[in-house]
Amino acid sequence: MINSLWQPEKKNIQYYFKSEPKKIDLQIDTYYMEIVLTNLLSNAIKFVDNNGEIIMNISDIDESEIKLTVYDDGPGVPKKEEENLFLEFYQASPRQQKQKGTGIGLALSKKLIELHQGKIEYKRKEKNSIKKDYTCFEVTLKKGTNKS
Ligand SMILES: Nc1ncnc2c1ncn2[C@@H]1O[C@H](COP(=O)(O)OP(=O)(O)OP(=O)(O)O)[C@@H](O)[C@H]1O
Ligand SMILES: [Mg+2]
Repeated sequence: MINSLWQPEKKNIQYYFKSEPKKIDLQIDTYYMEIVLTNLLSNAIKFVDNNGEIIMNISDIDESEIKLTVYDDGPGVPKKEEENLFLEFYQASPRQQKQKGTGIGLALSKKLIELHQGKIEYKRKEKNSIKKDYTCFEVTLKKGTNKS
């Protein structure tokens, strides 16, 4: 199913990856974190408009945490629905038939990130220093090496 969603070229999407730190050690299980990132990127691809822009950015918060943000310049969700985004099976309006999915992705992502002692937040960044409105999913993760 992921493969069927992973078609950014059909919408002519510009995708950028930026990372301030060149090398980071994180306390993560890469298998589970890939599920999280695949969902955030596939959501951005699904909900951004044609000719849209998606950015994945990694930045240092301090000596113990990093922030990974997936931005898209699509419409985001209505303000009154923001608080429901991480609930199981929740899909925001307007709901379009052609947008596939079950509403599990963000609920699962939140659980997986919290199991890593991290957090995930939705933010709508209004036009400011970055000139456009962006829908953002911000993931905070702990630095360090896995003990296993
Ligand atoms: N980048 C985004 N832009 C706009 N709306 C979004 C975005 N990401 C998520 N949403 C909204 O949040 C809802 C829940 O997302 P979630 O990833 O949990 O489910 P889904 O993508 O619909 O299905 P699944 O991930 O289970 O295949 C989406 O249906 C959509 O309404
Ligand atoms: Mg999803």
